[in-house]
Amino acid sequence: MVQQTREQWGTRAGFLMAAIGSAVGLGNIWRFPYVAYDNGGGAFLVPYLIALLTAGIPLLILEYSIGHRYRASAPLAYRRIFRPAEAIGWWQVAICFVIAVYYGAIIAWSCAYLVFSIRESWGDDPDGFFFGEYLQTSEAPGAISGYVPGVALPLIGVWAVVLVILALGVRNGIEKANRIFIPLLVVLFLILVVQAVTLEGAADGLNALFTPDWSAMLNGSVWVAAYGQIFFSLSIGFAIMVTYASYLRRRTDLSGTAVTAGFANSSFELLAGIGVFAALGFMAGAAGTTVDQVATSGIGLAFVAFPQIISTLPFGGALFGVLFFASLTIAGITSLISIVEVIISAVRDRTGLGRIPTVLLVGGTTALVSILLFPTPEGLYYLDVFDHFINQYGIALAALVMLIVFAWILRRLPMFDRHAATFSSIPLGLWWKVALGVITPLLLGFMMWDSLRTELAQNYEDYPTQFLLTAGWGVAIGAIVFGVIVSLFPWKRAGTTTEEDRRNMTDQIEEGDR
Ligand code: ALA
Repeated sequence: MVQQTREQWGTRAGFLMAAIGSAVGLGNIWRFPYVAYDNGGGAFLVPYLIALLTAGIPLLILEYSIGHRYRASAPLAYRRIFRPAEAIGWWQVAICFVIAVYYGAIIAWSCAYLVFSIRESWGDDPDGFFFGEYLQTSEAPGAISGYVPGVALPLIGVWAVVLVILALGVRNGIEKANRIFIPLLVVLFLILVVQAVTLEGAADGLNALFTPDWSAMLNGSVWVAAYGQIFFSLSIGFAIMVTYASYLRRRTDLSGTAVTAGFANSSFELLAGIGVFAALGFMAGAAGTTVDQVATSGIGLAFVAFPQIISTLPFGGALFGVLFFASLTIAGITSLISIVEVIISAVRDRTGLGRIPTVLLVGGTTALVSILLFPTPEGLYYLDVFDHFINQYGIALAALVMLIVFAWILRRLPMFDRHAATFSSIPLGLWWKVALGVITPLLLGFMMWDSLRTELAQNYEDYPTQFLLTAGWGVAIGAIVFGVIVSLFPWKRAGTTTEEDRRNMTDQIEEGDR
C-alpha cells in the first residue's frame, strides 16, 4: 500500500483556533460556573490557577510534543515510544468514543432550545417541560422503553454537520470550520455577557460567584474539582492534543501555543462564569430569593435555569436565549469534531484507509450508537452515568497511567523537554519536569483514591447497582480492555514509519525547519 503523506494544518493560527475550539466546549459554559460556585467561589480560582499551571499547561505541552515528534495519532505515537504503550492510546480512543456519543446529545438539546427560545415553548414550567415533555425521561434507569423524535432529529443534524466537516479533512474541514466558528462564538458570547451584566441584580450574582470562601482551600475535594475541571475543559487526557499536534508542521512554537491556548480557554471560562452568574443574580432578584436557591448544577443550569431567566426578562428574552443556545451549540460542535477526530485518525493510521471511508465507517458507527441510545426515555440516565464514570475513571486515570509510564518508568521527560525546547519560544526548565513528574501524578493519584472512596461508600446518584455495574463500571473497564485487546491485534501496517517520520523524531533542526 502506498504511504500517504500526513495531512497538515494550513497555518499556526489555524492550529491554534482548532486547539481553542476543542478546549472551549460545554464544560466552559455551564460546567465551570457551577463548579466554581460550589467549591468556594472566588477562593476556587486559586486551586484552579494552580491546576492550570501545574497540570493543564504542562500536560498540554507534553501532548503537543508527543504528537509533533511522532507525527501520529495516540496509539501509533505511543507505540513509537514504547511498544506496549500502544494500549494506552487505544484506551483513550475508546474514551473518546464514549464521550462523543453523549456529548452529541447535549448539543442536540441545545439546538432544539435555540428554536424553543424564540417562542418560549416551555411556558411557565421549564423543569417539567425539559425532563417531561421534551426528554420524556422515564421514572428510573432500565431497558429502553421508547424513542423521542424531538431529540433524534436535531441529533441527526448535529452528526451530519460534524461528519461532513471531518470528511473535508484537516485543512479544508476542521481548520476552516474553527476559523469561522471561534470568532463567531466570541462575538455572540460577548454580546450575551454584556446583556447579562447590565441586568438588574447582576451584581448579586457576581458577588455570589466571586466572594471567596477561603476555608474551601483546605478541603481536598475542592482541589479534586479544580484539577477535574482543568482536564475536561482543556481537553487533556483524551489524546485530542496528541492527534491535533500530529498535523503540525515541523516549524512550530509548541510551548507558546500551549500557553496561549490554555489562557484563552480559561479566559473564556471566566467570561462564562460572569455571564451565567450575572443572569442568575437577575433571576434571584426577580423571584425574591437568593442566588444559591437558583444556581443548579450542570444540565439543569443550561436547560432549566436559563429558560426561566429568558421568560423573566422584561424584553429581549428571545435574543438572550438564541445567543446562549447558539453559543453552547457552536462551542459543543467544535469540541465534538476534535473528539471524533481522535478515533478517525487512530483508525486511519492503523488501517491505511482513506479519510472519507473512515469517516463513513467509524464516524458513522459512533453517530449511530449516539442516535440509537440517547433519544430514548432512558437516555438521560445513560448520559449522566457515562459522563461521571468516563471522566473519573477514563480521562483522569488514563492521564495518570500515561505519566507513570512516560515519566516514571521510561523516564522520557528530559527527551520531551529537549524536543519542546528546540521548537519553543518559552523555555520549560525545572518547573515542567516537577509539575509532570511529581505534582500532577501525586494529585491525580489522590483524586483517584478520593473518588473511589466516595463511589464505594454510596451508589452514584443512588442509581441501582446493576445499572452502575453495566453503564458505569462496565463502560469504564470495557474501555481499558478494548485498549489492551486492540493493541495486541497483529496489524498489517503496524509501526509503518516513513523517512520523514524518522527525521522528525530527532531534535536536530535542519535547513528550513526554523
Ligand atoms: N474541552 C471540552 C469541553 O470543555 C471537552 O467541553
